[in-house]
Amino acid sequence: MPATFAASIAASLRSALANTPFAAEIPPGFTAQVDATQNRQFGDYQSNAAMILAKALKKNPREVAAAIVGAFAAEGLCEKPEIAGPGFINFRLTTSALTTRFGALLADEARLGVALTDTPKTIVLDFSAPNVAKPMHVGHIRSTILGDGLGRIAKFLGHRVISDNHIGDWGTQFGMILWGWKHLLDEAALEADPIPELLRVYREVNARTKEDESILEACKSELVALQGGDAGNLAIWERCVELSKSGLQKIYDLLEVSFDHWYGESYYNDRLAPLVDDLLASGIAEVSEGAVCVFFRDDEKLADKPAIIRKSDGGFLYATTDLATIDFRIQELGADAIWYVVGAPQQLHFEQIFTIAKRRGQDADFRHIAFGSILGKDRKMLKTRSGDTVQLADVLAESIERARAIIEEKNPELPEEEKAAIARVIGIGSVKYAELSQFRMTDYIFDWDTMLSLKGNTAPYLINAYVRTRAIFRKLGSGFGSSSGELVLTEEAEKELLLKLAQYAEIVPTILEDFRPNALAAYLYEVATTYHQFWEACPVLKVEGDIRHTRLALCELTGRVLRHGLGLLGIGTTERM
Ligand code: ARG
Repeated sequence: MPATFAASIAASLRSALANTPFAAEIPPGFTAQVDATQNRQFGDYQSNAAMILAKALKKNPREVAAAIVGAFAAEGLCEKPEIAGPGFINFRLTTSALTTRFGALLADEARLGVALTDTPKTIVLDFSAPNVAKPMHVGHIRSTILGDGLGRIAKFLGHRVISDNHIGDWGTQFGMILWGWKHLLDEAALEADPIPELLRVYREVNARTKEDESILEACKSELVALQGGDAGNLAIWERCVELSKSGLQKIYDLLEVSFDHWYGESYYNDRLAPLVDDLLASGIAEVSEGAVCVFFRDDEKLADKPAIIRKSDGGFLYATTDLATIDFRIQELGADAIWYVVGAPQQLHFEQIFTIAKRRGQDADFRHIAFGSILGKDRKMLKTRSGDTVQLADVLAESIERARAIIEEKNPELPEEEKAAIARVIGIGSVKYAELSQFRMTDYIFDWDTMLSLKGNTAPYLINAYVRTRAIFRKLGSGFGSSSGELVLTEEAEKELLLKLAQYAEIVPTILEDFRPNALAAYLYEVATTYHQFWEACPVLKVEGDIRHTRLALCELTGRVLRHGLGLLGIGTTERM
């Protein structure tokens, strides 16, 4: 597959710059930006290179632009560039360049023009990571959806992605769980559906400890016994972790999210003491008031925020486990990059452990991929009507039910089984898309009506656009494979759609730059609206010959891009809805 339009134009622009009279004066680090235009009225791509250079060289921007245009040679790729406004250079692709690309994209069903990265990495992706027997809160929902989407994109770009569900299976909550298990557990309820029962027990104990000091003490002793290796408590703990995992697995199955590993915090227990010794021996950590701490005295941001890695009572902390986890991931999993998809409130924690890791000489690409909150319609943290944390399982069930009602209304004659399957795809897809179509740091409002709407930037709208690309072939009675002819782009609406589809290859590789799957979502939405305009302007089945073939090819390619792009977001499509 040849380079993208943006890359080809940028390359020609570089050669043109080298052939201008001021070539020798161009600052060494200068790179000419080429961006897609929002409006084809100003050409297909645009560069502000002349304006930036003019500033650096103290020249007139329009004159710099004229010199660049004079030296520009892009055989067959674009028309002679135009200079606009204060010195923008506008590029318009030739019809033949568009047509050639069209053929190449049609022939490239697997990658749709998207190149593999030339710097493949082994990335450990740490996401979801709920805590056993504690409510999986909205933060875990965001992490799960975002992490899964980013993992799919990284894999598609050619990285080796190792996903690890770092579940909290060894926290202080086990004191309460153990006490609750012994005094309040309803075995039958646990068998039927473990997560809600464990949650009920946890909440109940939590409430009781607040009223009764002695219960709090009893919980603490249960925890001490567990940590000391008490066989009975260990057995309960193990069963509790297993039950929780199987409950979580059901949710992940529904979401079609999977993990390569579930090491979990407890996996690192034996590594914590030697790690702390090692940090003390190397002088990175020191004893302070009986605890072991790492100070960041020369770090402006962290100067007054030491990290505790062993409490004065000998207990280890969240940070200690994370440091041991980094060792394991680098040494045993061969990670070049470790990416954590965890809410913004943990920013300090990650700054601390990344700084410690770097001091230890660990130079992986550490990233905290933070995100904001999900709000209710009242703009406060999302809660259930009774004030509890919203459970992911309940959100998914309700979304599927609501999607089902929409399909029932739209297409009542579909077979029951198909309706159920479609409802699942739309229901799950809507929850995922509501998350992924927002910039991750934005606090977004969770609103059923908006996210399940058939209009606007939503999953149902995009899936419906895909369904429409398929409907034409159903009407025709045969797939695109049986159509043949030449590709001839005649109408503006066709060219515009083709250009949009070709830009898939430009968008996808940028998503990981700042971890913005929302840019992919925004792009897919533009594909759908551009397709809609094409559809209004260009009849397909009423025309014949090469024109019909070309338009069918546009429908086919649009369908492929929508399905593939939604797939990268972890969202399925259906053939009807
Ligand atoms: N279990 C943690 C929580 O619920 C998230 C863990 C994230 N991953 C990590 N390596 N710290 O807050």
